[in-house]
Amino acid sequence: MENEKYYITTPIYYPSGKFHVGHCYCSLVADAIARYKRLRGYDVFFMTGTDEHGQKIERKSAEAGKTPKEYVDEIIADTKDLWSKLGISYDKFIRTTDKEHVECVQKIFQKLYEQGDIYLDTYEGKYCTPCESFFTETQLVDGKCPDCGRDVELVKEESYFFKLSKYQDRLMEYYEEHPDFLEPLKRKNEMLSNFFKQGLTDLCVSRTSVEWGIKVPSNPKHTVYVWIDALTNYITGLGYLSPADEKFRKYWPADLHLVGKEIFRFHSIIWPALLMALDLPLPKKIFGHGWLVVDGTKISKSRGNYKDPREYINEVSVDALRYFLLHDVTLGEDGNFSEEKFIEKSNTNLSNDLGNLVSRVIAMIEKYEGGVINNNSYKDEDAVDLILAANGLISKVERNMDNLKINLAIDEIFNVISKANKYIDITMPWVLAKNEETEKLNKVLYNLVETIRIVTIALKPFLVETPDKIFSQIMIPEEYQTWKSAKTFGCFVKDTKVKKGENIFPRIDVKAKEETKVAEKVKKEKVKKVEEVKKEEVENIITIDQLMKVELKVGQILKVERVEGADKLYKLQVNIGSEERTIVSGLVPYYTEEELLNKKVVVCTNLKPAKLRGIMSNGMLLAAGEGETVKLLTIDGDIEVGSNIR
Ligand code: MSP
Repeated sequence: MENEKYYITTPIYYPSGKFHVGHCYCSLVADAIARYKRLRGYDVFFMTGTDEHGQKIERKSAEAGKTPKEYVDEIIADTKDLWSKLGISYDKFIRTTDKEHVECVQKIFQKLYEQGDIYLDTYEGKYCTPCESFFTETQLVDGKCPDCGRDVELVKEESYFFKLSKYQDRLMEYYEEHPDFLEPLKRKNEMLSNFFKQGLTDLCVSRTSVEWGIKVPSNPKHTVYVWIDALTNYITGLGYLSPADEKFRKYWPADLHLVGKEIFRFHSIIWPALLMALDLPLPKKIFGHGWLVVDGTKISKSRGNYKDPREYINEVSVDALRYFLLHDVTLGEDGNFSEEKFIEKSNTNLSNDLGNLVSRVIAMIEKYEGGVINNNSYKDEDAVDLILAANGLISKVERNMDNLKINLAIDEIFNVISKANKYIDITMPWVLAKNEETEKLNKVLYNLVETIRIVTIALKPFLVETPDKIFSQIMIPEEYQTWKSAKTFGCFVKDTKVKKGENIFPRIDVKAKEETKVAEKVKKEKVKKVEEVKKEEVENIITIDQLMKVELKVGQILKVERVEGADKLYKLQVNIGSEERTIVSGLVPYYTEEELLNKKVVVCTNLKPAKLRGIMSNGMLLAAGEGETVKLLTIDGDIEVGSNIR
């Protein structure tokens, strides 16, 4: 295995919106395989990236008021952040807007045109814009796109075509001679019966109606249509047809193209045919995985049935998410993603089984051995089953990983974890300590640490934080943390120190989490309200409710008297319909007694009464103006006394 090359890819993703756990799934599977191969000593090249051209991006960016490049740049920065939080250990992130890719696609197009594999004609067909795919009438389902179920549109235009039909027989032969080329088998059979046996038709490979894409060099009114632009990334990213093509010479053909089931047929028909036309070797394997679904429906950007995966990482942990997606979804099948299940698995398999094993063992070594493993002998009759399982674990993981049975590889690891927990229950180290059976106690603790060492190494392809956390608490020398060393039980020496640290997998208390969420929501709403009130105060704004609290009525002045000893005040008797009120008002400078008598005025009737010059004033007349001119607000027209003013 040493230095043998391994080239693995994910599809390049459309940066047409935020990514969801469905997208993470494919990248995580590829990452686990890449990590596994690296641990085994392979020279791995793991490539992922983004497929940035086409009508969908053109439309979306226009909607967002951005240029397509500005639009995708933002999403790609966000995607790289997501991949880094998930621990996706890619060696190259290719973008179809990269200069090297654009130049190489143009060279490929020109080469195929010059050798007669691409020709100019007219295309008429049904086109699904979101899927960027043409379909024949027979492929449509009830007249709609067979992939996404949306409406298709009739498109007629001058186009370049790739002679796909020419490669039908060679492809068939290749499938027959290389039974492992397409997997899983059911998808290969599906592809053969649904698309292949009906006969391959030539493929439209350019559009004149799409601006955002790579121009056909000899005829720039044409844009290279999606599949030649996208599929070729697997070789352009290695420097194919460029002066710097060392990677291409080293890593091509790919060992594994991992793709989702809906793009499996493009990868199993168009891609190999293009490679045949370019006279290049074909990838060793194309694997079509299933979809992540929620309640039976594909998680997708257009359905919006998803959360940002970073929420799961923040709320639980990156390793819990990796564990769930890699273990609970069988590669090749659809898998259901449920938040409850995800949390439950984190609590049971990770916190209870793995987390508790590690913390119990460390606690016992600290308590009974002063924090140092002081024994080198492991032969204990109660440990036979455990030692056998731990000793054979790595080869079982390898066998499953080599067959892409990721969930079974993880099952093997947890099987050993469960045996270790049972070994504690059987041997009861606390009883051994009490009875001072020191020799047996030392052996038991040694066997447990050795099992944890092997299990932790075996977990390295799948979990990215946990192995380091465990080895920072059980300080095993680095030479015994390698994949190779984990193939032998009992190989590390005594005097290893342990030190209890943070809990590796704190349990997630769903109820408390819900309560916290509700409390946070209430708090947020409160803060929002307070802020609103503050804003209103600053801006002197009142709400309609506040305004409605002021009671205004039509009143009529029945009697006017001067207030003794006051220059400006009148004592008025005002009829407000339901009653008569005494109101003291400073109107002397502005109105005579005659002018006021019988006047219809606007009265605030729910003002708190106040004593003025010994007279209780119960209400207020509304007036406008200041200084020398003040005028009472009166009623325009014949409105009954006592009417409410709104
Ligand atoms: N750009 C093309 C691929 C070109 S490869 C030469 C494309 N992009 S995509 O963003 O729509 O999808 C990328 C990958 O994500 C596909 O393999 C697709 O199957 C996968 N997934 C998208 N939603 C998914 C789920 N809900 N579940 C699992 N994988 C899903 O297709």
